[in-house]
Amino acid sequence: LLTSQRLRSAARAIGVFDSGIGGLTVLRALRAELPLERFVYLGDTARLPYGTKSHATIQRYAVQAAQALMTRDIKCLVVACNTASAVALEQLQQHFAPVPVLGVVGPGAAAGAHASRSGSIAVIATESTVQGGAYQAAILRERLDARVIAKACPLFVALAEEGWISGAVVSAAAHRYLDPLFVDGPTADRPDTLVLGCTHFPVLAEVIRDVVGSDVAIVDSAMTTAKSLRAELERADLAVGSICVRPRVQFLATDGRERFARVGSVFLGELIAISDVDLVDLR
Ligand code: DGL
Repeated sequence: LLTSQRLRSAARAIGVFDSGIGGLTVLRALRAELPLERFVYLGDTARLPYGTKSHATIQRYAVQAAQALMTRDIKCLVVACNTASAVALEQLQQHFAPVPVLGVVGPGAAAGAHASRSGSIAVIATESTVQGGAYQAAILRERLDARVIAKACPLFVALAEEGWISGAVVSAAAHRYLDPLFVDGPTADRPDTLVLGCTHFPVLAEVIRDVVGSDVAIVDSAMTTAKSLRAELERADLAVGSICVRPRVQFLATDGRERFARVGSVFLGELIAISDVDLVDLR
């Protein structure tokens, strides 16, 4: 009986939540790491962006979105949104215990701390993430000698949402944001590592690379979050293991199924059919 209960429990889906479609870059890494698992992804497209909103609002939205996933009987929640992870992770963990809730900030900070040789690390993220200081604190927890510069790059979110991931406009924005850190000023002061602390930034990585140069390590939290998720599932005895469930993804959006499918396909790196996206109301 215990075994069949465990199997049923482990066969439940993993919930993934983001303010919109950007978190599909994280889902992509989670699926690559855990190909046997089922996922249900919720993008709060009606209320995006979170990154310019107050902490109180982000916390309220995050709890509502997580609640919608909990009612779908998820076994674990991944907060793919950096802003919600930076501002609301503790509330979510307290509110939904004992369901494990993982964020992307801790894994992203760890990846940055380990990639850096000099200890000089730059983080780019949304305004709210930068203001909350969660990345800065998490990197310093990993590495006491770190010197962290955090910079808000809100326009990158809009560009990626528009599907503009290369070209002159993106390049101009990248220079405006990143030249002060990586091009101007003495070479010795420049960070040797750049943490992409926002779901939308991995799709702009090529343009960002052109600006910061080939010597800078560019890291994002997706891969390390996937590894943390695997470890957490094993710790909690919730990994699906070799059970034969049909691995699949269910998509939920709070607005704009067509847009979710179209733009989301760029972030996920594979085609999403409109018919696979269901609308959900969080109020
Ligand atoms: N998902 C957000 C993040 O990773 C970016 C988009 C937003 O501001 O809502 O910070």
